Amino acid sequence: MTTPSIELKPSSHPLSDAEREEILASPGFGRHFTDHMVTIKWTEGRGWHEAQLVPYAPLSLDPANMTLHYAQTIFEGLKAYRQPDGTVATFRPEQNAERFQASARRMAMPELPVDLFLAACDALVTQDRAWVPGSGEESLYLRPFMIASEVGLGVRPANEYLFVVIASPAGAYFPRGVHPVSVWLSEEYVRAAPGGTGTAKAGGNYAASLVAQAQAAEQGCDQVVWLDAIERRWIEEMGGMNLYFVYGNRIVTPELSGSLLPGITRASLLRIAEDLGYEVAEGRISVDDWRAGNEDGSLTEVFACGTAAVITPVGSVKSARASWTVGDGQPGEVTTKLRKALLDIQTGAAPDPHGWLHRV
Ligand code: PLP
Ligand code: COI
Repeated sequence: MTTPSIELKPSSHPLSDAEREEILASPGFGRHFTDHMVTIKWTEGRGWHEAQLVPYAPLSLDPANMTLHYAQTIFEGLKAYRQPDGTVATFRPEQNAERFQASARRMAMPELPVDLFLAACDALVTQDRAWVPGSGEESLYLRPFMIASEVGLGVRPANEYLFVVIASPAGAYFPRGVHPVSVWLSEEYVRAAPGGTGTAKAGGNYAASLVAQAQAAEQGCDQVVWLDAIERRWIEEMGGMNLYFVYGNRIVTPELSGSLLPGITRASLLRIAEDLGYEVAEGRISVDDWRAGNEDGSLTEVFACGTAAVITPVGSVKSARASWTVGDGQPGEVTTKLRKALLDIQTGAAPDPHGWLHRV
């Protein structure tokens, strides 16, 4: 089957420059969407077809659409940054394309070729380039996703799918910006179990997380931290972000347990931290290790990382049994240094030694 090229059908009524500028002055996160989207269909026996860039618009779904009932739905999140020379670059999009394929395999959905994923993101960024914020760490957040589009109530993999990419200008993910978050250790609810869907970026994982996030809020915490499903002892990840533990010059992130999401920011920071001379490791960290490291002062900082929120310090921890402050509760030196190093590469303020930027 051949890879289709993307047919351009631009909007005849994009938002005016003034309307767009007003949105870009204070974009928030995920509240506003650009003028266009890319859609590509997949049908059993025919493969990927009808690749189009079209005006952003609601999707029309039959009430018996299989996604609405059985949740075959996956997504990605990546950012396009304005570079100092005015051009636009996305950060490691081929990594998102590959993770999207892995998510598709887990959810019995068709794999979108990496080239087509990249072409779809490039087409949307090119068309809606004026929506990429002008400078600094603001960006255009791209949200590629795929749903089943077949109509029917039988429980089996659908034989028709729709891939869509939308884009949203993004400022800070957390309303308070780079402010340490407080976390709730979830012992009652788990995000994912071995053999489950935790390594896939599948919508159901997020639906299942919401009750624990609500419990965290009831406990006065900003975010939930997930523990392993079996022993409820090993730290997995935080809400929609991976975690890093800083012991002076040594930095440890929970190993890919088979139930946490392999974050692209996490993987990038393993390299960046090494480049900056830190000793880096992937390993197992228990709740007791976290508490003990805090008490004896060996654990100096904890931070979370992900595309949407970049790097966010963790300031305090609460569980059903204990609560404690991480370090002095303020953004730590290593957290701040790594955040700057990552953003400098993404925004073109520093060289890109690993070739992570993809020019659009
Ligand atoms: N963990 C979860 C559950 C996520 O949703 C995300 C966000 O994508 C991450 C971790 C971080 O992944 P990435 O750095 O690829 O954005
Ligand atoms: C991201 O960081 O891209 C995420 O997907 C996290 C969240 C918005 C779901």
